[in-house]
Amino acid sequence: MTRVNADVDPDDVPSNPSDNGHIRDVLSRRGLIKGGTVVAAAGFMTTGLAGAAAAAPERTKHGHHAKKLLGFKAIAPSTDDRVRVPEGYTAQVLIPWGTPISSKGPKFKKDASNTAAEQRQQIGAHHDGMHLFPLSKTSGLLAVNHEYVDTTLHYKDGDAVITKEKVDKAVAGHGVSVVKVQQGKHGKWELVDSRYNRRITADTPVTFSGPVKGSHPLLRAKNPALGTINNCSSGYTPWGTYVTCEENFNGYFGTEDTSWKPNTEEARYGVAAASGYRWHTADARWDVAKNPHEVNRFGWIVEIDPFNPKATPVKRTALGRIKHENAAVTESHGRVVLYTGDDQDGEYVYKFVGDKPWRLRKALGQSPLDHGTLYVAKFNDDGTGVWLPLKFGKGPLTKQNGWKDQADVLIRTRSAADAVGATKLDRPEWVAVNPGNKDVYLTLTNGAGNGGKANPRTPNPYGHILRWREKHGDNTALAFTWDVFVLAGDPAYDPTVKLGPDAIFGSPDGIGFDHDGRLWIQTDISNSSQTLASRGYDNIGNCAMLAADPKTKEIKRFLTVPRGAEVTGLTFSADGRSMFVNVQHPGEVSAAWGAPTPANPRVVSNWPDFDPSGRPRSATVVVTKKDGGKIGT
Ligand code: FEO
Ligand code: CA
Ligand code: CA
Repeated sequence: MTRVNADVDPDDVPSNPSDNGHIRDVLSRRGLIKGGTVVAAAGFMTTGLAGAAAAAPERTKHGHHAKKLLGFKAIAPSTDDRVRVPEGYTAQVLIPWGTPISSKGPKFKKDASNTAAEQRQQIGAHHDGMHLFPLSKTSGLLAVNHEYVDTTLHYKDGDAVITKEKVDKAVAGHGVSVVKVQQGKHGKWELVDSRYNRRITADTPVTFSGPVKGSHPLLRAKNPALGTINNCSSGYTPWGTYVTCEENFNGYFGTEDTSWKPNTEEARYGVAAASGYRWHTADARWDVAKNPHEVNRFGWIVEIDPFNPKATPVKRTALGRIKHENAAVTESHGRVVLYTGDDQDGEYVYKFVGDKPWRLRKALGQSPLDHGTLYVAKFNDDGTGVWLPLKFGKGPLTKQNGWKDQADVLIRTRSAADAVGATKLDRPEWVAVNPGNKDVYLTLTNGAGNGGKANPRTPNPYGHILRWREKHGDNTALAFTWDVFVLAGDPAYDPTVKLGPDAIFGSPDGIGFDHDGRLWIQTDISNSSQTLASRGYDNIGNCAMLAADPKTKEIKRFLTVPRGAEVTGLTFSADGRSMFVNVQHPGEVSAAWGAPTPANPRVVSNWPDFDPSGRPRSATVVVTKKDGGKIGT
C-alpha cells in the first residue's frame, strides 16, 4: 500500500458512502462489542465451527495422538533491524530489489542510480504476494508481486522533482517477477538463469477477458492496454497459473486540471486530482483529465502463466473490479472458487464461483475464470451469512435501476455490492481456505482508527480474523456460518484480548495454510503505529509472522522483520522444508524511527545489506530448519 506520509494510511480512509451494515454493528448487536471493545467470542458459535474448535486431539492414521502442530519455541517481540527466527531455524535473503534477473543483467547500484531500462531487467520493488511453482523438490519458478515503490528510496535524488525517466523507472519497479530459483550447495536458495525469467511491469502489454472486453467504451484510452499495478497479493490456480491482484490503483492517477472532478464511480474508488506519485505531471497516461479511461483498466485480477514466458497477462474481468488484496483459490465439485477481499475501511469480501467444472472449461479451450458468478458476502447478526450475486438483471441490478449489462456491473463492482446490501468490514485483507475442512479465514487488519482515548480500540486498531464454514463444507454454497477466530491486540491495553506474550500481534494481513494445516498469520502494522505506546503497539514490536493451530487456537510468534517493514507473501518448497516470505518496505518513513532522505536513506533501516553507503531494500527471505525438518515443527 502507498504510504506518502507516516500519519495517514490511505486504506484507513473509507470511500464507501452506502448505508450498508458494518461488521462492527453486527458484533455490537451480538453483544460482542462492549464500550467499543470486542469481547471474547467464546460460547456464541452456532454450528460446525464450535465442534471443530472443541474437537479432541487429532489422531494419526496409526491411532496415536498427533504431535503438537506448533513444535518450535516462540520468539519474543523484537525492535531489531533484522529478521529473527526461532532456535534451530535460519533465514536467508533472496532476490532483493534490483537483483538482475539474468547473470548478464545490470547490477544493482546502491545509490539507486540504476536507470528505468536497467530496472526493467531487475527484480522490482516492494515484494508482496508470491507463489513458488515447483519444478522439483528443490527448484521452482517463483512469481513475486511488486506492490509499489518508495519514492524517496527509489531514486538517487528522491522525489522532489518528477521526470518521465523517473516515472518510467517507477513503472518498471512495479508488476511481477517470474524467476527460477533453486536450492544449491549448503541448502542456500539462489536465482538461476532460465528462459522462464521475466519481468511484467506497469508497461507490459495485457489483454482483457470475460464480460468486460478490452474494446469496451469505458476501457478505451489513448494508449494500448498496458501493465498491472499495485500488485498486492496473489493466488494460484489448480491449472498452474498465477493470479495477481491490483489493489490501490487509484493512487497512480491525478491531474493538475482544476476543472476536473471525479464522477460518482471514480469517487467510489478514491480516484482524485491529487496523487502522491505525481506521475501525471510527467506522463499524460496517468492524467485522469487527459486520459480519463486508463483508470478503468485497473482494479482487476490478472492471470499470468509462469511456464510460458511469451504468454500475455490477462485481466480476468469476471472476478470484479475492486482493490483486490489476494485471491484464495479452491475447488468444490470440480468448480473453481476464488475468494478476494477489497482492502479499504468499510469494504466487502467477494467470491467467484465457476459455472462448470474447471477441467471442462479448460477442455473447451476456455478460461474457468471467465465463466461464473461473482458474489459478495452479507454477515447476519445470528452467525449466519449469505452470498449475494452481482449479476445483471438480478435483485436491484436491473435496467430500471440504471445498470446496462454485466460489464457495467463488473466495472462498477463496488456500487453493485452497495446496491445488493453487502456487509462493510474493517479493511478486508487476505483470505485463506483450510485445505482440510475447507473453512475460510479472512484477516481484517484494523478499523477506522478514530480512537486513541481511554480505549485504544476505538473502534479496532488491532484487527481480527473472521472465519466461516460454507454450508455442508461446499465452497460453492451460498450460505455459511461464521465466527471470530481471534481478536488481535495486546491485553495490556485491551483486557478482552486473549493472547499471551508469545502470541500478541496487531494488524493481521497475510494469512495462509501449509500442507500440515498450520495457519500462518503475517502482520502489516502501519508505520503510524509500529512500536508506538501511543498507539498501543509498543509491546508488539516490529511486524511479525505467527503460526496458529486452527483447532486449539494456540498461536506462537515465529518470525520478526526489520524496522519499518511488513511481512507478507507465503509459499513453500514442494517438500515443505523451505518457507518463502517477503520483507516489504524496510526503512519506510516511520513515526517511531524517522524519515529517510536522499542524503540518508538509512534513517529507519539498512536491511539487508547494512552497507554504510547503501539503502534498505525489500527482499524475499527463505526460512529453513537446521535439521532439515518441516517448517513449524
Ligand atoms: Fe496490499 Fe492491503 O495491503
Ligand atoms: Ca497486504
Ligand atoms: Ca495491510
